[in-house]
Amino acid sequence: MEPRHFISLLDLSSKELLSIINRAIVLKNHRNPDFQPLKGQVLAMIFEKSSTRTRISFETGMTHFGGSALFLSSRDTQLGRGEPLEDSAKVISSMVDCIMIRTFSHETVTTFAEHSSVPVINGLTDLLHPCQLLADMQTYFEYRGDIKGKTVTWVGDGNNMCHSYINAAHLLDFKLNIACPIGYEPNRDIVDSAGDRIKVFHSLEQAAKNSNLLVTDVWASMGQEEEQKKREEAFKNFQVSSATMDLAHKSALFMHCLPAHRGEEVTSEVIDGPQSVVFNAAENRLHAQKALLEFLLCK
Ligand code: CP
Ligand code: NVA
Repeated sequence: MEPRHFISLLDLSSKELLSIINRAIVLKNHRNPDFQPLKGQVLAMIFEKSSTRTRISFETGMTHFGGSALFLSSRDTQLGRGEPLEDSAKVISSMVDCIMIRTFSHETVTTFAEHSSVPVINGLTDLLHPCQLLADMQTYFEYRGDIKGKTVTWVGDGNNMCHSYINAAHLLDFKLNIACPIGYEPNRDIVDSAGDRIKVFHSLEQAAKNSNLLVTDVWASMGQEEEQKKREEAFKNFQVSSATMDLAHKSALFMHCLPAHRGEEVTSEVIDGPQSVVFNAAENRLHAQKALLEFLLCK
């Protein structure tokens, strides 16, 4: 049987995504140390970029479930010395039960998945970050209930996080206003795939009006460090501040996948303020990915 991969949120149906969110909430609130559905199973985690949350949440999740996780940095494996992805995928998947990859090119993950005999999970590429969306959506549901029909505002780069928010809008049927500088818009095909739920603005103020959730991310993502100065200039009118939150619905929440740069994409007042749920969302990476691992591996 072909393994079930999680490379994009769109690998799930709306119903499956909702069931993973609900299961994550149950796993969080009723933790039973004797529940070890992945006893003896191994997750290989390949990191070609840095991580705090993704690594810790997957490793802890596997331990809670009675399994274990292997941290594989490309610096220390033959992948970093140019062993073909196809060969690496065949070999690694012959010995473990699941593979998580964080890398640059999205094609690295899709190629790996094509040649893997076990499920492959996208732990972030330059194009998508679906695991973060499981946690963000779980957090919204916990605080405010169903997100269907609500308005979410994405502020900043049309990047991996923004693309996964577009996919979430599609599956969970919410409106997504995207506020980005000219030249930093999200991928047109991904925008079009979600229909008229998505609106792209070049004004933060217009995009933030009456929003139920404001979300932002760093101005320069991993791999774009040398563009930092240029991006500081391009994004200077796209900082989430108290004035931005005042334009949104009064019960609006604030999220950021972290790590954050206070004073750049968000002020301290907002990220450390009462509307911010960033640390709850960070913790939910653990619960949401446990629900994902159970979904992919316990069929
Ligand atoms: N949000 C997120 O993916 O964090 P890490 O880069 O620390 O894994
Ligand atoms: N857009 C950011 C997300 C980090 C979790 C990056 O790719 O670096």
